[in-house]
Amino acid sequence: MRLSDAKAIVTGAASGMGRHFVRRLAEAGAHVHAVDVDAAGLGTLHHELSAAGFGAHVSTATCDVSKEDEVVATVAGARDTMRGLNVLINSAGIFRDGLLVKRDKNTGAVQKMSLGTWQKVIDVDLTGPFLMTREFAAAIVESGDAESVVVNLSSVSRHGNIGQSNYSAAKAGLVADTKLWGLELARYGIRVGAIAPGFIRTPILEGMPPAALERMVSGVPLQRVGEPEEIWLGVKFIVECGYFTGRCLDIDGGVTI
Ligand SMILES: NC(=O)c1ccc[n+]([C@@H]2O[C@H](COP(=O)([O-])OP(=O)(O)OC[C@H]3O[C@@H](n4cnc5c(N)ncnc54)[C@H](O)[C@@H]3O)[C@@H](O)[C@H]2O)c1
Repeated sequence: MRLSDAKAIVTGAASGMGRHFVRRLAEAGAHVHAVDVDAAGLGTLHHELSAAGFGAHVSTATCDVSKEDEVVATVAGARDTMRGLNVLINSAGIFRDGLLVKRDKNTGAVQKMSLGTWQKVIDVDLTGPFLMTREFAAAIVESGDAESVVVNLSSVSRHGNIGQSNYSAAKAGLVADTKLWGLELARYGIRVGAIAPGFIRTPILEGMPPAALERMVSGVPLQRVGEPEEIWLGVKFIVECGYFTGRCLDIDGGVTI
């Protein structure tokens, strides 16, 4: 699919990679419906893109991707606003790290990851893409639109990263679903791909102590963090390459977890 033909929903659009994807899509002539829980962030995004001359091609909607009623309304709203849909980029994501169990050094008490901490990340990072992709696919199947594509943002943590029981499970599940959605939806002309980024320069990393960041980067064969633009190249490839489905691109500087 040509980027200029895209009518794209981007979740997690107010920050980091999602925000970068919205800008790149708009610059390429696509229509974009930018979705996030952060209404203020969506406001500044729209302001920036309007100032750059792309405002007419970008609409925004506040939506929590883990809430079924909000997702149903948002996908329907996107289809009406853009007069069609053919791209979905699931970039919204959170993490709430912690060990499964841990003995407190001072008191000896055993601490556990709470069910709430587990569930919150599963809700946003796995149930969110499930709901968004389900509603997107249902809309495409209903309308019989031509080629469509879904891009899911997984993570190198999908291989199982210490302190991330919840996040690793969600991101691994998302790659499994990418494969099976690719198989299930091929008959409707819907392709589904995933990207598993390594450490990428977004607000998530900017909040890290420099020493911790340095330690992390020392384990990356390319010896640096990645840029949102390098993940955008993967998104662009998945959207444009009509023979790509059901697979995950690892864009991680060669790091192993
Ligand atoms: N930055 C990295 O190093 C990195 C590495 C691997 C994977 N990822 C994944 O890439 C994606 C984008 O990451 P980022 O670094 O741009 O993150 P970010 O924190 O900069 O942006 C995430 C956006 O998602 C939004 N969001 C959070 N919960 C939401 C919800 N319930 N509904 C709708 N929107 C919600 C936030 O408001 C935010 O704007 C995430 O899925 C993340 O897990 C990031």
